[in-house]
Amino acid sequence: MEIKVAKSAGFCWGVKRAVNMAIDTLRKGKNTYCLGELIHNRREIERLKRLGMKFIDNMENLKRGDTVIIRSHGVSPRIIKELKNKGTSIVDATCPFVKDVHEKAMKLEKEGYPVLILGNPNHPEVIGIAGHLKSPLIASTLEEVEAIPKMAKLGVVCQTTLNLNFFREAISTLASKVKELKVYNTICSATSIRQKEARKLASKVDVMLIIGGKNSSNTTKLYQISKSVNPRSYHIESKEDIKEEWFREAESIGITAGASTPKWVIDEVVNYLSTLYKGGELSGRGVCQTTG
Ligand code: F3S
Repeated sequence: MEIKVAKSAGFCWGVKRAVNMAIDTLRKGKNTYCLGELIHNRREIERLKRLGMKFIDNMENLKRGDTVIIRSHGVSPRIIKELKNKGTSIVDATCPFVKDVHEKAMKLEKEGYPVLILGNPNHPEVIGIAGHLKSPLIASTLEEVEAIPKMAKLGVVCQTTLNLNFFREAISTLASKVKELKVYNTICSATSIRQKEARKLASKVDVMLIIGGKNSSNTTKLYQISKSVNPRSYHIESKEDIKEEWFREAESIGITAGASTPKWVIDEVVNYLSTLYKGGELSGRGVCQTTG
C-alpha cells in the first residue's frame, strides 16, 4: 500500500502561533482562560485542558487579573473592550491574516462601500469580522449572493478559509449587478495551498483520508473538495474512525489534514495505516510525502 501525505497537511502558521502562545502563557502558571475553543480540534483541546487551560463560552465569571487568550479566529472590538473593562490580561493570538481582513473590511466601510463578507455567518472568524463593521452583509451560498439586490457600490472581503471556487462564482455573480465592486480576496494562502493540494492528491490516489475536527470549517472544505474528485474520500478525526473496508482493492491512500490538525494526530493515522498493511500483499512502497 502506498501512503502519500500532503506536504501542506496539518497546522497552518497562524494556528501553530496561537497554540504556542497559549502554551507559553500556561507555562507562566497564570490562570488562563480561552474564549471558545482555541482551535477546532477536539483532541488538541483535550491536551490543552490537561495542561491547565480553561475553556469558557462567555465572560461572565472572569475576574481582574485572569489571563484570556484570544484565539486565531479573532473577536469583535466589543469583546476586547469588555475584557479590558473586567481588568483581565489579554493574550491576543488572532492570526495576523485575520487582522488584515478586519482592517480591509473597515477600510472599505470608511470609503463608503457597503461591505459583504463571504463566509459562514456562524463561524467565529466571520462573527469577529462582522463585529468590526456597522452593518455588514454576509453570504455563505451562491443563492444568498444571487439574492443581493442591484447596487451602485459594494466592497467584499471573505473568510480566510473560504472555498476558492465559491469565491470566484460569487464575484462573477456580483460583477453583473454591482456598478462599483471593490474586492479583497482575503483567502489565506495556507488555505488555498491546502485546497489545491487536496484536489490534486485526491485525483491521484484510490482512497483519500482527510483528518481534522468535524467542527473544523477548513477541514470540512478539504473533505468536500476531495470528495468532488474522489468519491472514496473520508473525513476522520482520528485513527479510531478508520474502517478497513474503505481500502478494499486500493493500492494507494492519500492523506491531508486541516489547518487545525496537530502533527501528532496525523502521525498516529500514518503509523496505524503502515502497521495495518505491513507485510500485506499491498505493502512495500512505504510512506512518502507529496509536493502536491
Ligand atoms: Fe491564519 Fe491562514 Fe491559518 S488566516 S489561522 S494562517 S489558515
